[in-house]
Amino acid sequence: MHDISSPRFARIVGTGSALPERSVSNAELVAELAERGIETSDDWIVERTGIRNRYLASGDETTATLGAQAGQRALDAAGRTAADVDLLIVATSTPDQIFPSTACLIQRELGAFGGAAFDVQAVCAGFVYALATADSMIRSGLARCALVIGAETFSTILDWSDRTSCVLFGDGAGAVVLVADQLPGILSTALHADGRHASILCTPGSIRKGEIVGHPFLKMDGQAVFKLAVTVLDSVAREVLDKAGMAVADLDWLIPHQANIRILQFTGRRLGIDSGRVIVTLDRHANTSAASVPLAFDVAVREGRIQSAQHVLLQGVGGGFAWGAVLLRF
Ligand code: UT7
Repeated sequence: MHDISSPRFARIVGTGSALPERSVSNAELVAELAERGIETSDDWIVERTGIRNRYLASGDETTATLGAQAGQRALDAAGRTAADVDLLIVATSTPDQIFPSTACLIQRELGAFGGAAFDVQAVCAGFVYALATADSMIRSGLARCALVIGAETFSTILDWSDRTSCVLFGDGAGAVVLVADQLPGILSTALHADGRHASILCTPGSIRKGEIVGHPFLKMDGQAVFKLAVTVLDSVAREVLDKAGMAVADLDWLIPHQANIRILQFTGRRLGIDSGRVIVTLDRHANTSAASVPLAFDVAVREGRIQSAQHVLLQGVGGGFAWGAVLLRF
C-alpha cells in the first residue's frame, strides 16, 4: 500500500483490550444449549475449532463500551490522553446503532473530541483494514495520533439455535495507539476483497421502514470459508513480506485472525513458521471477529511475549469475502 522508503512512519506505541464480565466455558455453553434442545459437546468444539471458552456481553455491555475500555487501556499504555487523538477508527460489524458510528460513540465516551472518527466494516478483516487506513492517513500527514479499535458483540447476531455457528464466537475489543514517527513502524500493508463470495458468511437482514427484512442472524458455510481463508492468508502474508523486502525467517510473531486452530496451524505450516511463533488466544476468547487480532496482540504484549523492535505480521480474513495483512516493527 505504501513505499517504505518514505521518511514518515506510523508506529504502534500502546495496546489495550477489554472483555465482557461473563466468561462462558464450553461446558457451560453445552449445558445452556442442551436446555434449548441443541446438542453439542466440549469434545466437538475443542477438536474442530480449538475453542474452550468465550466472553459474552450482558447488561450494559455493548460494542461501544467494550471498545472505549480497550481504547482507554491502549492510551494509558501509550502514555497518551484522549486529547492527543486526532483520528479514531473503529472496526466493527456489530455497531451499537445504525448511526452515528460506534467511533463517534466511543469518542464521546473517551472525551477525544474534534478529530476524525469513523467505522470500518470489513467483518473479521476489519482491524487490519482500519490499521492500514490509519497508517495511510498518518503517512499522508492527515493525522498524527490515531486510536484504532476492533470491537464486537457478535453474540447479538448469533442464531442460538444454529449449533454450527453459535459455539464459535465471543465478544470483546482490542485497540492500538498509532503515532507519526521517523522510526518504523508499520512496514507494509495489503488489503483485498472479493464480493463474489458475499453469501458464504453474512448477516443478510436489514431494517427497512421499521421492519426487519431478511435473516437477521449470522449465516456461514464453514467449509467454504475455511478453504478460502487458508489460501488467502498464505498469499497475503507473502505479499506484505515481499513489499517490505523481508522473508518468513525475519518474522518474530504471526497473529492470524483467531477463527479456528486448524486454520492457524495450516497457515503457519504453509508459511513455514514455527508453531511457537504463532499467537493463539482463540482457546480463551473464541472468534471475536474484528476484535480478535488486536485482542491477541494486546494479550501477547502484556504477557511479555511480543517485545519492542520485534517484527509482527497481523492477518485478518472473513465476510465479504475480505482479507488483509499488516507487517510491522513493534
Ligand atoms: O471469522 C470468520 C471466519 N470463519 C471461519 O474461519 C470458520 C471456518 N470454518 C470452520 O472453522 C469449520 O468449518 C467449522 C468449525 C465451522 C466446522 O468444522 P468442520 O470440520 O468443517 O465441520 P462440518 O461443518 O463438516 O460438520 C461436521 C459434522 C456435521 O455432522 P455430520 O453431517 O457429519 O453428521 C455437523 O452437523 O459436525 C456437525 N456439527 C456439530 N456437531 C456438534 C456442526 N456443528 C456442531 C456442533 N456440535 N456445534
